[in-house]
Amino acid sequence: MTVLVLGGSGLVGRRLVRRLADEGTPVVACDVVAPPSPHPAGVTTAIADITRLDQILSLLAEHEVTSIALLSYIMGPLMSPQHKDILLACQVNVTGVATVLEAARLSGVSRVVFLSTVGVYGPPSLYGDRAVAEDELLAPASMYGRMKALNETICDRYSALYGLEAVKVRPSSIFGPGSTIWPSRFLERVAVGETGIVQYGPDSRDNVIAVDDLAVLLSTLLSTPEPRHRTYLASGHNVTMGELAKIVQDLMPAAELEFPTPDRRPTYPERFDNSRAVGEFGWQVLSLPDTVRRYLDAVRAEAGLEPLA
Ligand SMILES: NC(=O)c1ccc[n+]([C@@H]2O[C@H](COP(=O)([O-])OP(=O)(O)OC[C@H]3O[C@@H](n4cnc5c(N)ncnc54)[C@H](O)[C@@H]3O)[C@@H](O)[C@H]2O)c1
Repeated sequence: MTVLVLGGSGLVGRRLVRRLADEGTPVVACDVVAPPSPHPAGVTTAIADITRLDQILSLLAEHEVTSIALLSYIMGPLMSPQHKDILLACQVNVTGVATVLEAARLSGVSRVVFLSTVGVYGPPSLYGDRAVAEDELLAPASMYGRMKALNETICDRYSALYGLEAVKVRPSSIFGPGSTIWPSRFLERVAVGETGIVQYGPDSRDNVIAVDDLAVLLSTLLSTPEPRHRTYLASGHNVTMGELAKIVQDLMPAAELEFPTPDRRPTYPERFDNSRAVGEFGWQVLSLPDTVRRYLDAVRAEAGLEPLA
């Protein structure tokens, strides 16, 4: 088995590459940009663009790839309504994703694990108080969520037409050093002694998943012989921003936090039910205080600071 990780230089890609390498799985880490630091020994590193069918086909043939983790995306910038490069986002997120699926089916790759998002669900009011599971109605509000919902439909079409095992994974907000979404303005700033900016109000709830926990699930989905489903929620901890702030302040009593947009809430549901992945694979996630501590310590280590006491 050889796994091609597309988006291997990104937040999730780097952790997944390391996890696969630790497990002894042959892995090709590919991205359109080089990784910020070298991948572990034994990992093959490649530069390619997912919008280029010729480049992806060459990689699949050269390395005899058996499964693909498809993580490449224009994500962080696209989530800003001010983001202007819509054409590039469409080229990568729509055409690029379809290009990888096409290359997979032409090359006889049996499985593609595609990273979607919980942003494919609709506003919280659609679901009431229940924890949302995989089969709920999709009604994405953001352009990012809509692109992911389209990607999921394209994955399903490739599965139905060609028998490709296109498995969609929907993570919630991913926690880990190098995040490009709100935790970077919160935990990454607090970790190095700056004021943490919390983008939602203290009572607003989001769901967070540690990047290392996600890497475990992705590695399982890449290798398990026959996953029972084509869609898995990769959610972790349902938490209010106030509860998260309390965990941070218990670890760093001097931490300064600001809630400049207290009325802002996520545009997707507040609670998720990850029991499909937990039940089928025995997937376990680290406790939230341990997750936060590891996150803060990893950012501090990168900044040359001592770990927290
Ligand atoms: N970070 C989160 O909180 C979060 C939450 C839910 C879903 N996701 C999804 O998970 C996946 C990985 O997220 P991430 O946080 O690691 O993102 P990231 O931005 O850190 O990584 C994405 C990678 O894609 C690469 N890429 C962009 N264009 C490319 C192209 N044309 N060809 C090849 N590679 C290209 C980028 O260089 C980058 O390294 C994405 O699909 C994202 O939408 C992320």
